[in-house]
Amino acid sequence: MKLQNAIAAAAILSFAGTMGFAQTDNELTVEGQLISTEAAAPAHMENVGTVYSGWRFRSEETQAMQTDDFDNSGFVFVDDGFALMASVDGSEGKSCASCHEDAEEFAGLKAQMPRVNDSGELETLEDLVNTCRTERMGAEPWKYNGSQMAAVTAVIGLQSRGLPVDVAIDGAAESFWERGKDLYYARVGQLDLSCANCHEDNYGTMIRADHLSQGQINGFPTYRLKNAKLNTVHSRFSGCMKNVRAEPYAIGSDEFKALELYLASRGTGLSVETPSIRN
Ligand code: HEC
Ligand code: HEC
Repeated sequence: MKLQNAIAAAAILSFAGTMGFAQTDNELTVEGQLISTEAAAPAHMENVGTVYSGWRFRSEETQAMQTDDFDNSGFVFVDDGFALMASVDGSEGKSCASCHEDAEEFAGLKAQMPRVNDSGELETLEDLVNTCRTERMGAEPWKYNGSQMAAVTAVIGLQSRGLPVDVAIDGAAESFWERGKDLYYARVGQLDLSCANCHEDNYGTMIRADHLSQGQINGFPTYRLKNAKLNTVHSRFSGCMKNVRAEPYAIGSDEFKALELYLASRGTGLSVETPSIRN
């Protein structure tokens, strides 16, 4: 690492050195349903014994917003998502609801995404939605990380809330997973930092005014207090890459899909929390 980069990295990584969580209460109950915010790390994780949801690292006020759907600002957008799914769009004169009458049919899906499809491609929830739009509705695809996509994927994700993350990483998925792992450990940007340098080596410490988590994705799309809207996984990856002054991969790129699979696998056993509340 060049000296000036090392100094910049030290400045940004002014970790307070205090390990620990915002609160000791580690049980999250949402609308009466118990959500697992920690789990024994899956066997493939060599350096971490326990995985924790990002919820555990937030302040008590932020945590509380997620315990009641009425207080959870993400639900404004979930409502938008339901409305979008009921509205007709495209040349076939259909809405999502024409074919998917009840969103509950999507229960369990989010916990297993992304996954490899029959053509051997790694597919995300966003891909599934846009395939239905272009191939079954005769409609334009939605912007991958746009507000419509975030709202509808929040509705679909919500149907899996409370279910444990459980993505396939073997067989056809293995090469994508390996690629994602390589990306996770690759040092990038002017600050020469990998995802692991922050989210594996230093979770539990303070970075500037933020409490550093393991960078889990079980709560996405996530309502962020910072921008008061739902944020997609790839937008978050992009933001973290920009923070280390790296050129981020494109939203919806193969790199980010592989990283998404790898990160999902690092959250194996955590409950889906969609839509979660974060800073
Ligand atoms: C003309 C009918 C039709 C319309 C309209 C439609 N879909 Fe689909 N959708 C399907 C079919 C058929 C499948 C494949 C089902 C399967 O593979 O079991 C599917 C699959 C899906 C899946 C994957 C489900 C799974 O468990 O693998 C999702 C998610 C989905 N659709 C979301 C949507 C959304 C969101 C919309 C509206 C933007 C929409 N669909 C519009 C027919 C439709
Ligand atoms: C310089 C340190 C740093 C690096 C490097 C970094 N992040 Fe982050 N990341 C943060 C901070 C700070 C936050 C906000 C607090 C938190 O949840 O950790 C965050 C948040 C996240 C979140 C949201 C977690 C949640 O619970 O909603 C994800 C996902 C994430 N990062 C993924 C990544 C990925 C993938 C990489 C590598 C491409 C990466 N980060 C690199 C600092 C970093």
